[in-house]
Amino acid sequence: MMKGLVLSGGKGTRLRPLTFTTAKQLIPVANKPILGYVLDHISRAGIKDMGVIIALETGEDIRSYVGDGSKWDVNITYILQEPLGLAHAVKTAQEFLGDDNFVMYLGDNLLSERLEKFIKKFNEEELDALLLLKEVENPKQFGVALLNGKGEILKLVEKPKTFISNLALVGVYIFSSRVHEAVERIEPSWRGELEITDTIQEMIHIGCRVKAEILSSWWLDTGKKDDILSANTLILDEYSKTEVKGIIDQKSKVSGRVKLEEDARITNSTIRGPCVIGKNCVIKNSFVGPYTSIGNNSRIINSAVEYCVILENAVVDSIDRLEESLIGRNAKVFKNQKHKTLKLHIGDYSEIEI
Ligand code: TTP
Repeated sequence: MMKGLVLSGGKGTRLRPLTFTTAKQLIPVANKPILGYVLDHISRAGIKDMGVIIALETGEDIRSYVGDGSKWDVNITYILQEPLGLAHAVKTAQEFLGDDNFVMYLGDNLLSERLEKFIKKFNEEELDALLLLKEVENPKQFGVALLNGKGEILKLVEKPKTFISNLALVGVYIFSSRVHEAVERIEPSWRGELEITDTIQEMIHIGCRVKAEILSSWWLDTGKKDDILSANTLILDEYSKTEVKGIIDQKSKVSGRVKLEEDARITNSTIRGPCVIGKNCVIKNSFVGPYTSIGNNSRIINSAVEYCVILENAVVDSIDRLEESLIGRNAKVFKNQKHKTLKLHIGDYSEIEI
């Protein structure tokens, strides 16, 4: 039986300030946490038993979102881990995994291609590890793989200083139980973590069958490679559908794929999809342009916004044009008509471009 292991622990330092208050796997993309798409993807491949790795700081938030897994029709086992590396997560999950094969999926990554064909290859060729790879422009930032002509891995290098390959390891792996043998044999790296690249290298060393597949379509890594704005664009392009549950008045115009959730109210405004507008939002005398996601209970008044991700309970008021912006929960952006000076009250690690 194939199990799933979803890694939703970690520190999330790179996505501050948003990750001061949320687990990075729960940052919404098109108004749904990235972890939700991950669980959709794994459960669609027929996997029923999933282990979810959580960290002490953010574990409760992950639990309250995923619950018992019934939303995805899967069984969930939570596994608490101190974030000491991806291979350390495998080690911590050993009891849950037993002797079963498993798909390991980083909770902030997402693939467009379905998993079934990779699972089929893994089973048919009786592999011990199947890695997914994707060509990247900046291989220095990733774990990369060097292959021979048969698709077998010759070497893996974490963040190579000199060029060896432009094929990066994607955050989805399929392993047999032999991975545990390798994890036992490796030592922590210079950054004090048990690395998955070292583990796979050790699997090759002890004679495991390790192969790779190169992805032909997109891969998202919101923890590292892709910022939230480009993830939002990709997800809206791929998944958004027209669905109107809110109220649109006679003076408003709505075109393109627009998802309007319950009790959202559009008054005297123009909405151009693809975009999602959350529950109880108020959009008044405004323009909401393509590739915009607006979280629940937010208000856009007398403003134009386009290509923006606006989280819950935010207010944008009297702003002529807001573009390519990421606005956190409960944030307010408004123009004071009287003063010409800029008055700011912003959190740590914020960025403002004027
Ligand atoms: P990373 O992005 O490699 O690590 P991180 O979450 O610590 O982030 P940062 O470097 O920005 O501080 O993690 C990839 C995914 O795996 C992410 O969803 C978190 C998860 N993870 C664990 O569950 N346990 C771990 O020990 C580590 C390192 C990551």
